[in-house]
Amino acid sequence: MARELRRGRGVLEVDEARLREVWEKQPAGKGLIGGDPRRRPHWVHPIPPEPAPWFRLGQSSEEHRERLVRFLTTAPAEIEIGAGSGHFIVDWAEKHPDRHFLAIEVRWKFANKIYKKLTRRGLTNLWVSDNDARVLIPEVVPDESIDVFHILMPDPWWRPKHQAKRIFSPWFVDVLARKLKPGGILRVETDVENYPQFVETLVTAHPLFESHDPELEALFSDATLTLRQQWCVEHGVPIYKRFFRRRETSILNDVPTGARV
Ligand SMILES: C[S@@+](CC[C@H](N)C(=O)[O-])C[C@H]1O[C@@H](n2cnc3c(N)ncnc32)[C@H](O)[C@@H]1O
Repeated sequence: MARELRRGRGVLEVDEARLREVWEKQPAGKGLIGGDPRRRPHWVHPIPPEPAPWFRLGQSSEEHRERLVRFLTTAPAEIEIGAGSGHFIVDWAEKHPDRHFLAIEVRWKFANKIYKKLTRRGLTNLWVSDNDARVLIPEVVPDESIDVFHILMPDPWWRPKHQAKRIFSPWFVDVLARKLKPGGILRVETDVENYPQFVETLVTAHPLFESHDPELEALFSDATLTLRQQWCVEHGVPIYKRFFRRRETSILNDVPTGARV
C-alpha cells in the first residue's frame, strides 16, 4: 500500500478531447485494470473453491453467480468499489449483520487480505471480488438492487494518458444510477483537491441523481476510516466528501436515463 500513501501530484489533469474518446470506448472494456475478464481464459492467482464468498467473472460458475445475486437481493445491500485491504468494509459489515456487502478490489493481493479477514472474523454477510468494478457491476449486479455504493479515496490517475482508468465517467455513473435502488446513496470521499468537482459535474448531470447532500454524512459517522483516510488524518490532509441520493423515480418504469454531460 506504500505507493498509494504518498501525496500525489495534487491536481487532476484533464485532456477533454482524449477523455471523451476513452469514455466512448469504456462500455466495450477500454481502460479495464488487469484486462477484460470476458476475454481472458487464464488466471494466475487462485481463488477459494465455491461456495466461498469470492466471485470472479470468467472463472466462477453460473451457480455461484446466482448465489451472489441472491445474496445481494435478499437484504439491504452495499458495495465498496476499490476496497483496498478492507479497513472500512470489514468493520462496516461486522457492525451491520442485517445488511449484505460486496467488496470489489481489483488487486488480488488486497482482495485476498479482505477474504482472510472476513474468514477470520466469521462474517457471513461479506463477499469479495477481484474483478474491475466497471465490468463486474454491469455484468452481475441486478438493476435497482443496491442501497449504497462506497467509493473511498479512488485512484486519481493524474495524467491524461491514464484517464481511461479513472473510475468516474458518464457511462459508469449511469451504471451506478441503474444499480442503485430509488433513494439509494452514492458515497464518494477523496483527498484530491479538484476531484470532488470532477465527480459532482458528472454525477449531477445524470437525471437520476440529486445534488450533493451533506446531511447524508451522518449515516456514516461511525464508519471505520480506510487506510488512506487514516494516513490523511495523521498528516493533516483534508478529506472531501460527497453524498448523492438516487431519485425515487424507478427506471423499471421506463423512465429514460443516460448520462448527459
Ligand atoms: C487509492 S486506493 C484506496 C484504497 C482504499 N479505499 C483506501 O482508502 O485506503 C484505490 C484502490 O482501488 C482499487 N481500484 C482501482 N480501480 C478499481 C476498479 N476499477 N475496480 C476495483 N478496484 C479498483 C485499487 O486497486 C486500489 O486498491
